Amino acid sequence: MGNDSNSNWREVDLNVDSLWIIGERDKSGKHANVYHGNFIPQVPDQLIRRYTKEGDTVLELFSGGGTTLFECEKLKRNYIGFDINKQIIDYVRGKMQPSSQIKYEICDCDVADFTEFNQAAINVCNEQGIEKVDFLIAHPPYLDVVKFTQDKRDLSQISDIDTFMSKFVDAMRNGLSFLAKDKYFALVAGDIYKRSEVVPLAFYMMDAVKKNFNVKMKGVIIKNIEGNKGKLGSQDIWKYRALKSDYFLFKHEYIFVFKKMD
Ligand SMILES: C[S@@+](CC[C@H](N)C(=O)[O-])C[C@H]1O[C@@H](n2cnc3c(N)ncnc32)[C@H](O)[C@@H]1O
Repeated sequence: MGNDSNSNWREVDLNVDSLWIIGERDKSGKHANVYHGNFIPQVPDQLIRRYTKEGDTVLELFSGGGTTLFECEKLKRNYIGFDINKQIIDYVRGKMQPSSQIKYEICDCDVADFTEFNQAAINVCNEQGIEKVDFLIAHPPYLDVVKFTQDKRDLSQISDIDTFMSKFVDAMRNGLSFLAKDKYFALVAGDIYKRSEVVPLAFYMMDAVKKNFNVKMKGVIIKNIEGNKGKLGSQDIWKYRALKSDYFLFKHEYIFVFKKMD
């Protein structure tokens, strides 16, 4: 149990339901919502408060626009992030200056590459004086739906599911080797449409984690994405398109929570 869940459990603002309807995106502090496909800050906020305590270290694969880092800073958790998008890394580093109270680093690194990841992670862990981290969070691209960079190593450049899944498992293996035993991790994922049908990508990823790693699954949470930029103000046209065709509008994503057993 994390810091918040130990004390004062009746009053604590932690959502233990499997359905998270998040009304309004938290835009406070450093959260500027500038990166397409970023987290609603309330997601890392809930997870970090539930599964870590002050002074713990959070590792993030696919760190993007820094939502988790900004939450870590607010909640006094140390942080190690990894992304391949130099531009967004520079943006996030810029937001963190002048130096904050927490220990943090964002590594420009291909998380699916064992040697590159390992080297970067060992270096940062040494700098921060730790061997393993206390929580891991991963929010990979949803195949090639949003292309984040032109970099060939970017998972969002992959359109073949099997190739994508193999890289995803490599990335999770790399990250999980730095998560301490009996600690928790969360995978945030969504499904996609491809060639006129639903591809349950989130389920594939969840299943791959179960099959490849010694974990216990602790939660399947569905959260709404009411505030999705692309759909704001254009509800009618989306409804029209959905009715004219034969599909449904994605409103939700999944948060899969696991406990690492070895
Ligand atoms: C869905 S976004 C993450 C958004 C993040 N949760 C946020 O709140 O901003 C996925 C991220 O994965 C990064 N990425 C894709 N392939 C990668 C790879 N091989 N190694 C590291 N990062 C990668 C992209 O650059 C992108 O920033």
